[in-house]
Amino acid sequence: MSDDTTPATPAPAPVSMDNLVGLAKRRGFIFQSSEIYGGFNGFFDYGPLGAELKKNIRDCWWADMVRRRDDVVGIETSIIMHPKVWEASGHVAGFSDPLVDCKVSKQRYRADQLFWAEVVVKTLKPEHQAAFQEMTVQHGTAPALSMDYYEFKTVGYVSALESERTDAELQEKAAEFKRKKGIRGELVPFTMKDITEADFETVSLIPSPATGEPGSLTPPRAFNMMFQTNVGAMTDGSSVAYLRPETAQGMFVDFKNVVDTNRVKLPFGIAQIGKSFRNEITPRNFIFRSREFEQMEMEYFIHEDADWAKVHEEWIVWCESWLKSIGLPDSHLSRYTHPKEKLAFYSRGTVDIMFKYPFGVQELWGIAARGSYDLTQHADASGKSQEYFDEATKKKFVPHVIEPAVGVDRIFLAVLCAGYAEEAVTDDKGNTETRTVLRLSPRIAPVKVAVLPLLKNKEVLVARAQALHKKLQKRYAVFYDETAAIGRRYRRQDEIGTPWCVTIDFDTIEKPGDTFTLRDRDTMQQRRVTEAELFALLEEQVY
Ligand code: GAP
Repeated sequence: MSDDTTPATPAPAPVSMDNLVGLAKRRGFIFQSSEIYGGFNGFFDYGPLGAELKKNIRDCWWADMVRRRDDVVGIETSIIMHPKVWEASGHVAGFSDPLVDCKVSKQRYRADQLFWAEVVVKTLKPEHQAAFQEMTVQHGTAPALSMDYYEFKTVGYVSALESERTDAELQEKAAEFKRKKGIRGELVPFTMKDITEADFETVSLIPSPATGEPGSLTPPRAFNMMFQTNVGAMTDGSSVAYLRPETAQGMFVDFKNVVDTNRVKLPFGIAQIGKSFRNEITPRNFIFRSREFEQMEMEYFIHEDADWAKVHEEWIVWCESWLKSIGLPDSHLSRYTHPKEKLAFYSRGTVDIMFKYPFGVQELWGIAARGSYDLTQHADASGKSQEYFDEATKKKFVPHVIEPAVGVDRIFLAVLCAGYAEEAVTDDKGNTETRTVLRLSPRIAPVKVAVLPLLKNKEVLVARAQALHKKLQKRYAVFYDETAAIGRRYRRQDEIGTPWCVTIDFDTIEKPGDTFTLRDRDTMQQRRVTEAELFALLEEQVY
């Protein structure tokens, strides 16, 4: 329609978390959990558009990972499992993060996210000071001296929490510390460390980020992140159970059930989508790290002698290409290979697919080669063999596994970050305005098409629009809107990522062919299409 605008030079609008969080709230994608009670840290609600977008992410994954593959089956296991599951898996003993308490403020910090540095100043040794001054006067400039002429002194410590600019913050705090204390000399450049790298005595000298004063931080200790509950009427130690911290154990524990009841042959996978819970010490970056989140995991079982590295690489490639199929740009994706010395003893290799979020490059999807560790652990703990009988070789063995594990919420945040743009557009009267647009792939966009009658008081336009809306609604999430000027209605849809708007105008009614104006969100180009062409477009793009 002529009321739309045309793209001008995109305004340089860096995606900030504030803009994204603002949009998510304003348009009903994400709310704070229990907001009317002040919110609940680490928990979120998905509003109408968010629930739809999240469901689309899950549905695309399930369709591509399970239904469209012949070698993967899907299951759904319980959130609370027998506590022995978590003993066997190693979670009871070892699923912990290092925790530091501030005894004064009662704040808790993840030790590997709390950084510190020694404030060291360099001053000229007293015995060289007179000569130095003399030479400076003589030559009109300070002489360059070797390090032997100086003495170095630790004058204090500074601390800062992990962020995009931890290093800069520490430098600023060191300069401020020196200034406030009236310390003379030159600050020596430092390397920051996290608090797990501080010895007992040093911890007592590092200021708490909450109070700015030393003496209140405790040395790091292991904090188990599993949420505990009690099952049944007793609330003593015998009834303790856990909310699952990952969905993966469901696939291991049901491995035999799946093998015995389905005609699966190695290599094959078992996939699951479901909620997981972790009592994260510092939930942060919006939905990136929360305490209740959703995982999509798949355990791909392979022969013990299979070329695991090849299968591992194939799954990494699969995951990368799946992320691109739902609209994540190549430019924002990278790989991180975990160093061998940091892997768990049973792990053969882990590669994370990383995403460039506004707060830094962070893990999106972990793809781990876990050997036969999990099945072996469960076989030992339950006394039930987890061996697979290979018909071809007539041999029994415990299969090995490759595990792609990803969080739905992290993908959700990634598609918002990658899709969000503010750009300058010019209307046909020459006025420039900023449009907010969410470039979501049609595969996952919460609304696929908006149906808009040009005028709401023209019965004939409204009737045709409503008929089209009803027909589209049978297959797709669509939105009907007859309020406001057409340009404003387009803008509303741009902001929530609707790929197409269809306008029913006078040409629809008066000219032959029953065509509508189809307006593309990204190019803002318009063309006329028939109903059949519209359905063909949706069939091709929404899968
Ligand atoms: N079974 C293996 C496993 O759970 P993980 O790396 O701990 O591995 C897998 O988790 C994925 O789950 C992560 O790559 C991330 O996408 C997501 N995830 C983990 N912790 C999360 C949290 N606290 N909030 C949101 N997503 C999380």
